[in-house]
Amino acid sequence: MTPPLPRTDAPARNGLREATCAVHQRLESSLRLAAPDLTRNEYLRTLRCFFSTYSALESELEKHAPVLRSVGIDWQERRKLPLLQRDLEALGQADVHGALLKSRAELPRLETLPQAMGCLYVLEGATLGGQLISANLRRVLGIGPESGGAFFASYGGAVQTQWQRFCVALEKSLLDLDGRQEAAVSAIATFELFNSCV
Ligand code: HEM
Repeated sequence: MTPPLPRTDAPARNGLREATCAVHQRLESSLRLAAPDLTRNEYLRTLRCFFSTYSALESELEKHAPVLRSVGIDWQERRKLPLLQRDLEALGQADVHGALLKSRAELPRLETLPQAMGCLYVLEGATLGGQLISANLRRVLGIGPESGGAFFASYGGAVQTQWQRFCVALEKSLLDLDGRQEAAVSAIATFELFNSCV
């Protein structure tokens, strides 16, 4: 699925969207989360991959919580690992840490605010396809937010509001070309991390 055309008044977001378009499409095709013949095993594998990837990235991003707050991001509110843990447990995966899938790609460097924002752009963007994916999980596997589909139902009806608030912080954090370039490198590396374990 091709995301809608970029808005011209959001240079940081537009740059990230353009830089990651190909890698997003590659991930979307390998995940098959919107496929009519998605299997429970495929979905479980995705959750295990996401649990390991979010676990590694969120523990790095947490170190940036104060600076994220200064651009308007409440880190605690954005964390998704508890939802992934809840989903794995709901689907019978009691030992979630034993279920970690190893990524073959390296973690992105997350030392600066632009690098952190590039990574967070990918993690927050994952909620956008969520509504479509949630509907498919229910239709094909009979899974709802309470029975293993909480991650893809992140933010419920507030998805668009949360995304818009994130985009405001993005523009505030990436004011120059160097910062935008750093964020793009980090966003691509973040997508590759997901691609390497699905
Ligand atoms: C089968 C899986 C997926 C589908 C069907 C999907 C679908 C979509 C759709 C429809 C949009 C546009 C939504 C809108 O603008 O309102 C979108 C945007 C986005 N998605 Fe995905 N997505 C999937 C997986 C992922 C994953 C796993 C990630 C990250 C790990 C991701 C990251 C993003 C990002 C960063 C954007 C924002 C692009 C922008 O700036 O407009 N997506 N996706």
